Amino acid sequence: MKVLIRVAKQAQRTSLQHLIFSRFASDSSPLAKGPESTEECKWLCGSSQEILTAVRGQVEVRENFISEEEEDAIFKEVEPGLRKKRYEFDHWDDAIHGYKETERLQWGDACEKVLRRVREVAFPKGSPLLGPVHVLDLDKTGYIKPHVDSVKFCGSTIAGLNLLSDSIMRLVPENNSTDWVHLLLSRRSLYILRDDARFKFTHEILKDEESFFSGQKVPRHRRISVICRNLPV
Ligand code: OGA
Ligand code: MN
Repeated sequence: MKVLIRVAKQAQRTSLQHLIFSRFASDSSPLAKGPESTEECKWLCGSSQEILTAVRGQVEVRENFISEEEEDAIFKEVEPGLRKKRYEFDHWDDAIHGYKETERLQWGDACEKVLRRVREVAFPKGSPLLGPVHVLDLDKTGYIKPHVDSVKFCGSTIAGLNLLSDSIMRLVPENNSTDWVHLLLSRRSLYILRDDARFKFTHEILKDEESFFSGQKVPRHRRISVICRNLPV
């Protein structure tokens, strides 16, 4: 997974601007637009109807995708490995701040069952997947800066389980850094980014101080994500 992170680091230098501009945009847009269906309303909002139309069908959040027991099973499986590592903070050019990570190929039965469900709903049938699953542990003060995942190593779809804390994922179009979309990733939800939302938008996980959805504070605690990706075609 080091390769993915290294590529993300390179992307970050140019995309830090996105963070600044899109923060400005969200501050100055009290009339942030919501989506059309009530189901989407719970987890999607953006700076304009156009941007919501642009991502529709390419972003998805499935709330309560896993049960508390399944969250616990995943946590118990990854925690011993993570406990041995220290959060990394101080590299100014890292795309991720305050994190530790690992990857895992073999999972116990309960976790494997969850991952099978993730793969079934997120990826096109027969799509070759990146073998190891990426596990990212963000400290309460940790966050992910805007970046696009490596196009060399990852394919059209990114699917992530959001464990331990609610969080906000912001998407910003690479060609228009004043527009933005927020996804509310509730604890135990699954999010999916596909196609343009994955290739033409940067994604980021907001730090606690910036973690708002439609004007509502969404406290960010320690968060673990379990991310499945497919391979480029
Ligand atoms: C990444 C990333 C998102 C997440 O590691 O490239 O964007 O949900 N992670 O942790
Ligand atoms: Mn990413």
